[in-house]
Amino acid sequence: MSVRLKRALDFAKDIVKGVIEDGDIVVDCTAGNGKDTLFLAELVGTRGKVYAFDIQNVAIENTRKALIDKGFIDRVTLICDGHEHILKYVRDKITCAVFNLGYLPGGNRNIITVPDKVIKAIKSCLELLLPGGIISIVSYTGHPGGKEELEAIIQFLKTLDQKKYAVANYRFLNQKNDPPQLIIIEKGRGERNWQQY
Ligand SMILES: C[S@@+](CC[C@H](N)C(=O)[O-])C[C@H]1O[C@@H](n2cnc3c(N)ncnc32)[C@H](O)[C@@H]1O
Repeated sequence: MSVRLKRALDFAKDIVKGVIEDGDIVVDCTAGNGKDTLFLAELVGTRGKVYAFDIQNVAIENTRKALIDKGFIDRVTLICDGHEHILKYVRDKITCAVFNLGYLPGGNRNIITVPDKVIKAIKSCLELLLPGGIISIVSYTGHPGGKEELEAIIQFLKTLDQKKYAVANYRFLNQKNDPPQLIIIEKGRGERNWQQY
């Protein structure tokens, strides 16, 4: 009786941890205050690399400070630009990309992720993703635009070929305060029959 349902963010971390190996190249599409970038930097190790994007200078600088504090700055390339431009910067194949949508905690709540750009970034990450790799998306629906953003992303993800990708949505059905939801996209390895789900 020790199993407890995890929050979306913690469940996302469990899955990401299960995929990333030492030496991997991964992308944080929304660096924010750097918590996810730090988590990824620890997982890829000294031989790996994290590309971390954010449109706000303050977010990139917060992330830089956090990385310097932990001694991980050498494993991370910080990019102050939108995730919709990922392909301008990342040429490597990746095992994982993470999105933590919405506004910068403690920052300007009017600067938020938007569906068109997130969907463009997801498409880019799908191109870069190695077989067996994953994209993790944590979505917050409590702020204006959040629900519409999630709906647009889900509609797009429903169009992905089930023979190539598995897409899952982890969410609480009976919680009142719009808790975050998790979406995981897994790229098939070729040997697996996705239709068995
Ligand atoms: C919820 S926060 C991310 C939290 C972060 N992962 C952390 O661990 O602290 C969302 C971030 O997305 C950023 N953002 C909004 N639009 C973006 C875009 N087009 N490209 C990259 N980042 C964007 C915001 O500036 C904000 O910092």
